[in-house]
Amino acid sequence: MIGVDVDLASTFLKEGKVVGIPTETVYGLAANALNEDAVVSIYHIKNRPFFDPLILHFANLESAEPYVLEIPEVAYQLGEQFWPGPLTLLLNKNDKIPDLITSGSPKVAIRVPNHPLTLELLSKINFPLAAPSANPFGYISPTRPEHVEKQLGDSLPYILDGGECQVGIESTIIDCTEQSIRVLRLGGLSIQSIEACLGIKLDFKLNENSNPHAPGQLDKHYSPSTSFVLCDNIIEDYEKYKDQNPSLLVFGPFKNPKGITVLNLSEKSDVDEAAKNLFHYMRELDNMKGSLILAMKLPENGLGRAINDRLRRAAANS
Ligand code: TXA
Ligand code: MG
Repeated sequence: MIGVDVDLASTFLKEGKVVGIPTETVYGLAANALNEDAVVSIYHIKNRPFFDPLILHFANLESAEPYVLEIPEVAYQLGEQFWPGPLTLLLNKNDKIPDLITSGSPKVAIRVPNHPLTLELLSKINFPLAAPSANPFGYISPTRPEHVEKQLGDSLPYILDGGECQVGIESTIIDCTEQSIRVLRLGGLSIQSIEACLGIKLDFKLNENSNPHAPGQLDKHYSPSTSFVLCDNIIEDYEKYKDQNPSLLVFGPFKNPKGITVLNLSEKSDVDEAAKNLFHYMRELDNMKGSLILAMKLPENGLGRAINDRLRRAAANS
C-alpha cells in the first residue's frame, strides 16, 4: 500500500516491519535499527549481503548522541551546516547499535534526512531507522514511490509517499573517526561544499575500483539490465554502435539523431537537475528493453562527479 499516513507507517515500524520511506536523496527501506529481526528483514527483502552495512537515520544530531562514543568537532561542524541533508557521517558506535547494522565494524554511518514526512515519522518513534536505498541489491536506486512499489511492493506493508526525491542521488559519506577526514562515497552534497565548510581540501580518487573503507561500494552497482556504456564522446560512440539501435542518455544542448530515443538529464546543463533525473531516466531507458544504452559523461563540477561515479558503476562489466 502507498500513502501519506505517517502514523500508520510508525505503527508498522514499531511492530518490527519494514516500510518504504522518502528522503531527499533516494527512497529507503526502513526498519527499527535496534530490532535485529527487523534489520534481518531489510537484508532479505533487498537481497543484500550481510557484509554491506546500513545507514542509521535520526531526527537530529542530538538524538544520535546516545549511540556513539563521541562526536568529533568536525562532525558537529558538518552536521550543523548540512543536516537535515544529503550527508552521512561515520562515527565510532557504542554497543547499543547491533553489529549487524555495521557488518561488524566499530564505525556506524548516521544521517539526518531532509524530507518533511520522514522527519515527522522520526519524531514519532524512539529508535533510529536503519535504511538502505529501497532497490534490489545492485539495481538502480528509487527516486519515486512507484519505483519502490514496482520492485518491492509485495514485500512491504506500506510505502510512505513523499513524491519525487529532490536531490536524486544518495548521500555523500564522510568518515569522521580518523585524524584526517575521508570521503567514502561521492553523493548528493558536493565535495566543494564540504571543503568550503571545513576550510580544507579533501582527497578522493574517483576512479578507484573498489573502496575497501566502504564495503558496499562495489564496482558494479546501480546497474540496469540493459547493456550500458559510458562515453567520452557519445557522437563517435553512437556511430560505432548504430547497428544496435542504442538509446542515449545525454546532458546539455544536444542534437538528437533521428529515430533514436534520447533522454536529456538537463538541457540547460544544470548538474543538480541532472542528479534529480538520473535514476528515473536510467530506469525509463532500461524499461524499454532495448539492446544498448549509451550515456554521456558529465562535467566534473558540483554533483557532476557523483553522477559520473554512478554512470561508471552502471557501466562496469556491462
Ligand atoms: O542517501 C542515502 O544515503 C540513502 C537514503 C535512503 O538515506 N541510503 C543509502 O543506503 O544509500 P545504502 O545502504 O544503499 O548505501 C549505504 C552505503 C553502504 O553501501 C556502505 O558502503 C556505506 O553506506 N556504509 C554504511 N554503513 C557503513 C559503515 N559502518 N562503514 C562503512 N561504510 C558504511
Ligand atoms: Mg544503495
